[in-house]
Amino acid sequence: MTPSFSEQGRFITFEGGEGVGKSTHIALMCAYLQNRGLEVVVTREPGGTPKAERLRRALLSGAIKSLGPLAEAALFAAARIDHIEKLIAPALQRGAWVLCDRFMDSTRAYQGANGGVSHQSMHWIEAASIGKMIPDLTLILDLDPREGLLRAHNRRQSNEVADRFEGEALSFHLALRRAFHDIARQYPQRCHVIDASAPVADVARIIQNFIDDRFFNHSMKSINQEA
Ligand code: TYD
Repeated sequence: MTPSFSEQGRFITFEGGEGVGKSTHIALMCAYLQNRGLEVVVTREPGGTPKAERLRRALLSGAIKSLGPLAEAALFAAARIDHIEKLIAPALQRGAWVLCDRFMDSTRAYQGANGGVSHQSMHWIEAASIGKMIPDLTLILDLDPREGLLRAHNRRQSNEVADRFEGEALSFHLALRRAFHDIARQYPQRCHVIDASAPVADVARIIQNFIDDRFFNHSMKSINQEA
């Protein structure tokens, strides 16, 4: 039986460069949806399950960097397989809303567009790892990387160092921003770019209005055109 609208789980991913405020807005959106009586699962990539968190530590430490972007993309995908199987798919099946901090578009932007992994390899890795698990909605938080890196720097504890990707040159982060814009242009029904430079409360309101409009105010649209 097709689940009624209220029982249907939704898969929403949050994407963007470093320090754009994904975790802040995911936490606010989680509270907003819970107030509507929905079950919400908040998770992140790489990570989300014990095995994927182990891969996260290897990937973000830079230990894999010397193997190159293709190997990194494969390991991000390996973590994603476990994440989907153990956490995302079961949550969606029981009707929960899943809010995920980064997903396949980060691999497309960081390892694909920016890392130079070919479109064909990316396509193969993605098809093999996620199958039809395409997000219902992807919010791309957009911010000048100079501002984002400053925010990321300021939120780090004094004894922490920048991770493998945050430590890349500004040119890398500028290209990353362009890559996310390209993804948004390529998949306009799934992706929506949010200006993340405004105060947190304003950005949160814009996101809430968008979610209301997309999921609660209108009849559902089929947006899985990438499957
Ligand atoms: P994290 O500390 O979660 O960064 P942020 O708070 O900016 O999201 O670290 C995740 C890092 O991993 C981030 O720099 C982006 C990178 N990444 C990839 O390069 N490819 C991927 O597929 C994913 C999921 C993340």
